[in-house]
Amino acid sequence: MTSDFSGKTAIVTGGASGIGKAVAVALAAGGANVVINDLNIEAAQLVVDEITGTGGRASAVAGDVSNADDATTTVKHAVSTYGGLHLAFNNAGIGGPLGPLADVDLDGYRQLIDVNLNSVFYGMHAQIPRMIEAGGGAIVNTSSILGLVGDPGAVPYVTAKHGLAGMTKAAALGYAAQGIRVNSVHPGYIDTPLLQALPTEAIDELIGKHPLGRLGTAEEVANLVIFLLSDKASFITGSQHVIDGGYTAQ
Ligand code: NAI
Repeated sequence: MTSDFSGKTAIVTGGASGIGKAVAVALAAGGANVVINDLNIEAAQLVVDEITGTGGRASAVAGDVSNADDATTTVKHAVSTYGGLHLAFNNAGIGGPLGPLADVDLDGYRQLIDVNLNSVFYGMHAQIPRMIEAGGGAIVNTSSILGLVGDPGAVPYVTAKHGLAGMTKAAALGYAAQGIRVNSVHPGYIDTPLLQALPTEAIDELIGKHPLGRLGTAEEVANLVIFLLSDKASFITGSQHVIDGGYTAQ
């Protein structure tokens, strides 16, 4: 799906791979100037090359979303390169420590919360003032089905993704009057490099949890994100958008 993003500038975190890459490519196809932020700058540059090779506008910024200064640097890059900021997809994330709560390594827990939760606060903290200057904007934050339901084997991830959903609602309420919409997306398991570390049996088990009988694709999630970032979603804010092949309907 493409929408008209001409004249708009967007930040996509974690845009070098998976869901972020699919959204970056779709935003650029819709005419946006796209700033791709990622830890992996080489992979981010490849996405930029793909976009510019087809006539789009994009640039890459190396940075760690769990570092507030890096979030500010990404926003400054967007404003100085393209003249303003209108859209953000706060999406970078990691899998994190698995296992029963009492067995989770505490450093792993803290890292997961930094990368999957604090990062989104830092991102919006830097992005929102520039969106107000631009006269409004739209933000989508990537949560998960595990931001809606629990999983006893992924407590840190569940904690971060539920927190992100609440942060999204509160931010939406805080900035609705200034024309900034903020929503979260909640994907089921999606076939991206994030899942590549899992053995085949684990993937088969995950597939079995989705009534549609397969994993989702990054492009399917991008379709939803693009809609939420577009003016077609002009009355949607503060809400949670599930895209999970039926996972949470059970
Ligand atoms: P992915 O691994 O394909 O892409 C994630 C990107 O984020 C990578 O390019 C990586 O380099 C970057 N990244 C990781 N840590 C970073 C950091 N500290 N700073 C900057 N960039 C960083 O993963 P995928 O699947 O596209 O995941 C994107 C988001 O979707 C994550 O927030 C994930 O939790 C969420 N999600 C993924 C699901 C899945 O099944 N793949 C399901 C539900 C949510």
